[in-house]
Amino acid sequence: MLNLGCGPVQPRGWVNVDGSHRAWFAAKLAPIDRLLTALGIFPKTEFGPHVRVLDLRKPLPFADGTVAAIYSGEAWEHFEPQVARRLTQECYRVLAPGGVLRVCVPDGVQFFSRYLDLIEKANQTPRGSRAQSVAEIRRHVQLYFNDICTRRPGLGSMGHFHKWQYDEPQLLALFEECGFLDVERMPFRDSRIPNIADVERSDFLIVEGVKPDLGGEVA
Ligand SMILES: C[S@@+](CC[C@H](N)C(=O)[O-])C[C@H]1O[C@@H](n2cnc3c(N)ncnc32)[C@H](O)[C@@H]1O
Repeated sequence: MLNLGCGPVQPRGWVNVDGSHRAWFAAKLAPIDRLLTALGIFPKTEFGPHVRVLDLRKPLPFADGTVAAIYSGEAWEHFEPQVARRLTQECYRVLAPGGVLRVCVPDGVQFFSRYLDLIEKANQTPRGSRAQSVAEIRRHVQLYFNDICTRRPGLGSMGHFHKWQYDEPQLLALFEECGFLDVERMPFRDSRIPNIADVERSDFLIVEGVKPDLGGEVA
């Protein structure tokens, strides 16, 4: 079972994959990483040689039909749409027939609904006393520019800002267009994948699909 874009979530029983610079350093140059951490030059990290370092923008280095299940929490939104599509196709390729792909991403609807709620609240507040509600709107808009659409220059751009905003129709369609069946929005930690609670940390927009078993079909 693959856990793609694992970050600090690295349960046993999963192949925990990440491609951040720190994951690379801690896996490939572990003794130097430990030394720099001990000297206080690097912050502590959960990454180490146990994490499989892969750049998910590239093809997955697994043979066709060899993976039982794939989970990814809060990673798909870090890819340009065409890169996320290629990655979804790659997941389809490496999954065994009957294998499950489950992706969790921030829900654009939640973000914009909250924005509209804040506007509504401000509009219902008398003009002279809106400072608090305007501050809340500003914080929400700032979140958008800080976390969602701010492209940081140089190395800082690797994976740490969002490059797309998903919602249920888009994510369902992505799965279906890549060939998955039984594509459904799923509740938090309710999955066809056993022990999903080991990897799932966020209750956002979660979609799951199954790679069909086409083995018995006659062309
Ligand atoms: C927001 S964290 C999610 C961590 C964890 N999966 C969770 O649910 O809390 C996104 C992770 O995706 C990784 N990531 C982003 N772009 C990547 C890429 N091109 N290749 C591999 N990992 C990537 C980042 O390094 C980061 O650890």
